[in-house]
Amino acid sequence: MSGLREVEPDDLASIMELEQYAPLPTWSKSSWMEETTKHHVVVSDTQPIVGVIALGLVSGTAEVRRVVVLPQNRRQGLGRSLMEYAYRWAENSGATEIFLEVSASNTAALGLYRKIGFQDVSVRRDYYGPGDDGVVMCLPIDDTQEDS
Ligand SMILES: CC(C)(COP(=O)(O)OP(=O)(O)OC[C@H]1O[C@@H](n2cnc3c(N)ncnc32)[C@H](O)[C@@H]1OP(=O)(O)O)[C@@H](O)C(=O)NCCC(=O)NCCS
Repeated sequence: MSGLREVEPDDLASIMELEQYAPLPTWSKSSWMEETTKHHVVVSDTQPIVGVIALGLVSGTAEVRRVVVLPQNRRQGLGRSLMEYAYRWAENSGATEIFLEVSASNTAALGLYRKIGFQDVSVRRDYYGPGDDGVVMCLPIDDTQEDS
């Protein structure tokens, strides 16, 4: 499996290719540019880039803001690697928990998050549009774990 690396300015075009396969609402090029400067973005160490994750940190709480894997590279463990990276990054940043929000209809993402250990916290009715609820999920950082 490929490794991961921090984003570089030249990666923006590749990230926009991946963005085609991300859920709505779409993030524009300028949104991603802002993301790479204000938050923490990590990509697969592959040419072309086949996976990306955007993470944020506010007052001791980490957030998974976006995670996308190219369709032909799915179900090979990359999503899990990106989420495991998110956990280590949050832990090293001193966060006590990681939050995220996902559409209740996004079976793949829900499956990934639950496999990692995220628990449902609340449901935001019609958050993504009529009949499309948002699920808020949380994973506490276990500070008893040894660093690996
Ligand atoms: C969600 C996403 C990132 C998962 O990436 P991935 O590389 O396929 O994930 P992995 O191969 O690491 O899968 C890990 C586990 O997640 C779960 N999972 C992944 N895809 C799934 C699916 N389609 N249905 C059910 N469970 C799924 C499974 O438990 C899987 O383990 P398994 O393959 O041993 O059964 C990918 O489907 C994607 O990019 N989706 C579009 C973007 C998106 O919706 N992002 C989330 C909101 S921003």
